Amino acid sequence: MSKKASVERVTEFHGNDLDDLCEATDEAILDGSGFGWLRPPARPVLESYWKGVLLVPERELYVARLEGSIVGSVQLQVPAPNNEAGAHTARVSTFFVAPWARGHGLARGLMSDLEASARRQGFKFLDLDVRATQTAAISLYESIGFERWGVQESYALVNGEYVAGYYYSKDLEKTRKRRRNGKKSKSKQAEPAT
Ligand SMILES: CC(C)(COP(=O)(O)OP(=O)(O)OC[C@H]1O[C@@H](n2cnc3c(N)ncnc32)[C@H](O)[C@@H]1OP(=O)(O)O)[C@@H](O)C(=O)NCCC(=O)NCCS
Repeated sequence: MSKKASVERVTEFHGNDLDDLCEATDEAILDGSGFGWLRPPARPVLESYWKGVLLVPERELYVARLEGSIVGSVQLQVPAPNNEAGAHTARVSTFFVAPWARGHGLARGLMSDLEASARRQGFKFLDLDVRATQTAAISLYESIGFERWGVQESYALVNGEYVAGYYYSKDLEKTRKRRRNGKKSKSKQAEPAT
């Protein structure tokens, strides 16, 4: 990551943070980023969404900054307390970097921080799903050890056409053992510290 690029967890918004995050979200949606919205929602809706994220105890929000401004995000979603049977698995969501801020290593940085937090909390798996058309994200996920286990042909409905979706998991215990045994990971990137 270059000096002007950084990644951090946020628990409250300061200064222009919320505006910048909404602006980056709009740009990613217009670019076909693939997380939920097909068109940018009205600004108050988007602001409420992001403010809401910070209120949910089961969500950790990580943001990417370029020269101090928020340009991307990812969320770690941990299971609700009632989900005892699923307590070993956390999820990745709202992963994007605004088109103009790509190529600085910010996405790798976001995933690295998210994964480090999941490991610290003892999760055994990280799950995610992604539209099959999101080739940059897919390439990144596979390079850091996510394995595709499923395809859903009707995953998203975009302009009246179905877009397939891929389901991925990363086995955090397997990759931890591999590191402990000193074997080289298939991943291009070093695993985040536990
Ligand atoms: C995926 C995305 C977050 C990458 O953001 P970025 O900040 O440019 O990524 P980085 O600079 O950290 O690059 C990390 C890796 O992503 C992959 N990648 C990034 N851009 C790529 C491209 N155009 N084509 C193929 N792979 C690409 C590469 O594996 C790259 O690693 P490398 O630089 O060692 O080759 C960004 O392209 C994006 O927001 N896409 C749309 C949103 C999206 O698809 N989200 C996933 C929804 S689940």
